[in-house]
Amino acid sequence: MNRRYRKTIIAGNWKMNKTATETKKFAEELKTMLPKAKWCDVVVCVPFVNIPAAIRAFKDMRVAIGAEDLFYEKSGAYTGEVSADMLKDLGVKYVIIGHSERRQYFGETDVTVNKKVLAALEVGLHPIICVGETLEQREMGITMELIALQTKAAFAGVPAEKARKCVIAYEPVWAIGTGKTATAEQANEVCNAIRATIRHLYGARVARSVTIQYGGSMNPANAAELLAQPDVDGGLIGGAALVPEKFTAIINAANQE
Ligand code: 13P
Repeated sequence: MNRRYRKTIIAGNWKMNKTATETKKFAEELKTMLPKAKWCDVVVCVPFVNIPAAIRAFKDMRVAIGAEDLFYEKSGAYTGEVSADMLKDLGVKYVIIGHSERRQYFGETDVTVNKKVLAALEVGLHPIICVGETLEQREMGITMELIALQTKAAFAGVPAEKARKCVIAYEPVWAIGTGKTATAEQANEVCNAIRATIRHLYGARVARSVTIQYGGSMNPANAAELLAQPDVDGGLIGGAALVPEKFTAIINAANQE
C-alpha cells in the first residue's frame, strides 16, 4: 500500500453466488462489523441481477457497488448482454473486466477486454482490469511478458486522464480458489512490473496514482502481509468476500498502518 499516492481498494468479487435476498442479509451483517473509519475504499461486485438489491442494501455504508462484467456495445440486438449505460444508470461505480474465469470459460480475449475497458470509461465507470498467468505460463518463465502484454492490450487507446480511473488486479490463475496464494514477494514483484508498464505507457505520475490489487486466495490470515507490500494497493477477493466476518477482517488489515 502507498496511501500517499493512491487509493487502497478492497473489493469483493461474488462471482455466481448469493441471491438478492442473501445480498440484503450480507449487507445487514456487514453493517454491524465494518470499522467506522476506513482508510481504504470498499467495493462489492455482485451478479447483475443483484445490483438493485445491493445498491439499496449498501446505501449509507460507504460501500461502492461493482458489476462483474459488461458488454462493449452501446445497445442493440445482443440477447442476454448488459451495457455500460445500464450499469451506470443503476448507480454502479466499478466493473470487473477480463477476469480469468471469463477468459477461460466465456471466450474473453485481450481484444474484447480492451473494448470493454473503453466502453466502461466512456460512461464514467471504473474498470477493475484483471491480468494474470496460468501455472504453465509461470513455469515457462513468461509471466512478466504475458502480464505486460495483457496490460498494454487492455489500455490500448485509453488516454492518460482516463487511465488514472482504472484499477488493475493481478490475479495469478493458479491462486484463484485453490487456497494457494502467491507469496507477498511474488505478488509485489508482478504488481511492480505492472506499474512499470503503466509508467512506460503514461509516465511516472499516472503510474504512481494507479491502484493495483492482488487477487487469489486472499484471506484474513494472509491479507496483512500482502497489503504491506509497497505495490499491492488492495485486494480482489472471491471466497472470503462471501463471509462478512472474513471480508471485514481483510478490510481491517487494509486499515493498519
Ligand atoms: P478467491 O479469493 O476465491 O481465490 O478468488 C479470487 C478471485 O478470482 C477474485 O476475482
